[in-house]
Amino acid sequence: MLIRELKIGEDVTAFYLVKAKNVKTSSANKPYIDFTLQDISGEVNAKLWDVKGDIENQYNPGEVVKVQASVTQWQQSVQLKIIKIRTVTQEDNVDYSQFIPTAPIPADTMYNEILFFVNKMEHKEIKKLVLAMLEEYKPKLMYYPAAKSNHHAIKSGLLYHVIRMLRSGDALCDIYKNLNRDLVFAGVILHDIEKINEMDANEVGVVGEYTMEGQLLGHIIMGIKKIEQKAELLKIDREISLLIQHMILSHHYEPEFGSPKKPLIPEGELLHYLDMIDARMYDMNKALRDLDEGQFTDPIFVLDRRRLYKSSLSQTEE
Ligand SMILES: [Fe+2]
Ligand SMILES: [Fe+2]
Repeated sequence: MLIRELKIGEDVTAFYLVKAKNVKTSSANKPYIDFTLQDISGEVNAKLWDVKGDIENQYNPGEVVKVQASVTQWQQSVQLKIIKIRTVTQEDNVDYSQFIPTAPIPADTMYNEILFFVNKMEHKEIKKLVLAMLEEYKPKLMYYPAAKSNHHAIKSGLLYHVIRMLRSGDALCDIYKNLNRDLVFAGVILHDIEKINEMDANEVGVVGEYTMEGQLLGHIIMGIKKIEQKAELLKIDREISLLIQHMILSHHYEPEFGSPKKPLIPEGELLHYLDMIDARMYDMNKALRDLDEGQFTDPIFVLDRRRLYKSSLSQTEE
């Protein structure tokens, strides 16, 4: 049964993918496992109270498990109380792609849309640099998520994040004539591209761990190093290389979020807000999608623990 269709009070037997697993201790001082399970329709919290055997090496993120559970309610949300659990075997014949939420537009279509924006670029060197980067990153860009757990943590989520920002950026460049459209497009396409090397993800889009480089440097610093090298190799004008590096460097805006400098050009300022808008709209839509009208969500950590309200005018999308 799909997670979105679970009904409180009923029992369920189904295959789900383990998205997160935390071993905790109950008030009775016994270990239990707190899971986030997922399928193509969404995520659900699940508790395994009766833990047996080797807890550390079983049911890890990225594995598919078969669970029998009662569907219960915790605060406003559905929760599973696991009765039985086992890891899948070859005989179960599960197709992993059945468990991974995927961007609503096919990856090919999104990649072509990026090329459509690149083809509008007038500045030859910016275009050359962006095309060279896209060519190099294309194989992984087609399926990479944009995050481990927050916004766009879905298969091809990075492409989806980029095309939505390109569309917004294109529209805003029509209004604010002081913006250089080529720089805005380049910043959008390249700002998170090193997430591909910051996190490990398999081809179905499940993120494992941050890589060593990802942990020690992060996608911002990795991004500017890459642009520095690539621009040098392609003999791109020094100022262009530095402007694009600066946009990547400043896109998180605050030092506590990883940007050592704030944007010093309007295109960088815009890039930060395009990024914020897209992440916020994604997270809000996701939180409200499965809620009934007139209800409030649980506090949402990435939205400063706000509890969002689903009004009768709410228009969520898949
Ligand atoms: Fe970023
Ligand atoms: Fe981003």
